Amino acid sequence: MVRGLRHPATAKTFERERLREGRAEEIAKRIVERAGIKRGDVVVDLGCGPGLVSKAVHDAAGGPKVYGVDHSKAMLRLAEKNFGELAGKRFFPVHSKASEFGKRMREEVQHVIATNFFNRISSEEQEKTVKEVHSVLSPGGRFIFNINGYAKDEKTELFFMKLLSHLREIAAARDLEFEREPRWALRVGGEEIIKTEDLLRESFEVGKEQRVTTRSPRQFLENVTAVPNRTEHIVPVKGLNARKRAAIVREAVKRTVEEIGEDFPLQWTQAWFVCRRK
Ligand SMILES: C[S@@+](CC[C@H](N)C(=O)[O-])C[C@H]1O[C@@H](n2cnc3c(N)ncnc32)[C@H](O)[C@@H]1O
Repeated sequence: MVRGLRHPATAKTFERERLREGRAEEIAKRIVERAGIKRGDVVVDLGCGPGLVSKAVHDAAGGPKVYGVDHSKAMLRLAEKNFGELAGKRFFPVHSKASEFGKRMREEVQHVIATNFFNRISSEEQEKTVKEVHSVLSPGGRFIFNINGYAKDEKTELFFMKLLSHLREIAAARDLEFEREPRWALRVGGEEIIKTEDLLRESFEVGKEQRVTTRSPRQFLENVTAVPNRTEHIVPVKGLNARKRAAIVREAVKRTVEEIGEDFPLQWTQAWFVCRRK
């Protein structure tokens, strides 16, 4: 039986893996800098999970109030545990779907963040969620989020591009402006490479890095108008052990960050967005 992230055991496993990655601090530091989060602010973390990023944001920003929104009680319990005695004082769990969290907020919110979450909800929920974000954010407030994953699907390219154009549309309709659009996505993976191979008609060797810049995805995406220039480091890792995979991923991330001057933390397939409420 496949258990979703809402199940207590899966939530715990997710937390353990997230801790092993140890990227929450790095991500939080960049978010805090970019959004200018301060001690007196109120931050909402959508799909906060075990609260590792929420807690790291809290610590990096000198102790703002953080509301962690998640539809999983198991995840929220872990988040409270991670905040320890700050739970109920500086951290407040909100058991809600992200698309409905607005009515639970009683105060103005200066920042909304969402890490490794936005691509997990349906297009309809994304639209509702952006509406909620807009309704709670104070003018000038920022919404910072990333999308990741979905690289196992042969439609990754399509998913990514459609999501981007969809977000642009809903942001424009909601008085949110994109301050920063994703410049590229990094992709390191296994099976999906075969699909990419089909797509780009390139050949790949396991463990060997390829740099691919997709300038005109329109060749395979007829109806999508949003076409960012994306550079991808593609390393087929199928069959390699976890340690080797991790080393390859780290190296590819490092090289890409240097090359493109990306200033947000990255891993696997990722793209970061920064919106500002007008
Ligand atoms: C991949 S985890 C990310 C957790 C955390 N943001 C991080 O980066 O470590 C996604 C989280 O979103 C939550 N989630 C998924 N769909 C949701 C929804 N519609 N509303 C609220 N939370 C949701 C899940 O329960 C899970 O805790």
